[in-house]
Amino acid sequence: MERLQKVIAHSGVASRRKAEQLIIEGKVKVNGKVIKELGTKVSNSDKIEVTGVQIERENKVYYMLYKPRGVISAVSDDKNRPVVTEFFPEIQERIYPVGRLDYDTSGILILTNDGEFANLLMHPSNEIEKTYVARLKGIPSKFKIRELEKGIKLEDGMTAPAKVKMLSMDKKQEKAIVEISIHEGRNRQVRRMFEAIGHPVQKLKRERFAFLTLHGLNAGEGRELTPHEVKQLRALAETGNLK
Ligand code: URA
Repeated sequence: MERLQKVIAHSGVASRRKAEQLIIEGKVKVNGKVIKELGTKVSNSDKIEVTGVQIERENKVYYMLYKPRGVISAVSDDKNRPVVTEFFPEIQERIYPVGRLDYDTSGILILTNDGEFANLLMHPSNEIEKTYVARLKGIPSKFKIRELEKGIKLEDGMTAPAKVKMLSMDKKQEKAIVEISIHEGRNRQVRRMFEAIGHPVQKLKRERFAFLTLHGLNAGEGRELTPHEVKQLRALAETGNLK
């Protein structure tokens, strides 16, 4: 569900401010009924009329990007750093990232203009699993890995149990490569989890988002998700199972 004024603004009929004004003035109907409440949420299937004319809803589009390091997960940046939408110059629709990867993190990022879908994927209760590969400073002991697996205390609370796998270690260079799967999405969570066990992350990549992998993509490349993938992601978020 998305806010009515946002949907009107995205259709190109009016700015967000103007859309709010039109709603307050009683000029907007949802499924034939005048709606004057600004907080009203509408779904993709609701019929919206502005001054008696049905609005054209933008086609919903779904993409994934292999985000390179050094790119902001946003549609614009006040410091003029590169942003993820720049990798889709040919797309007319107003896509935006679903959640965030840090500036320094590379890997899978989904972009869409479907607010309902984005909310569904991001909602913590929907528990989409994300898998990261981290290069760590030092080599964590089995005991410390176990702490992450059980859940560890961060400043914003305990983390949920994680799956952690040691991929390789280099005793000479004092580095380890570790895979970690979590289903939460707190700010800089993976970095903070490893920091908490005394092994800061030197490099981080998101390798998997649910069943989606980076297979076939180089950093900076993206592709459209197939209708089946979109359906599967929705099913996974809604029910915890694949269709
Ligand atoms: N965890 C992090 O620390 N950074 C990310 O970009 C994603 C998850």
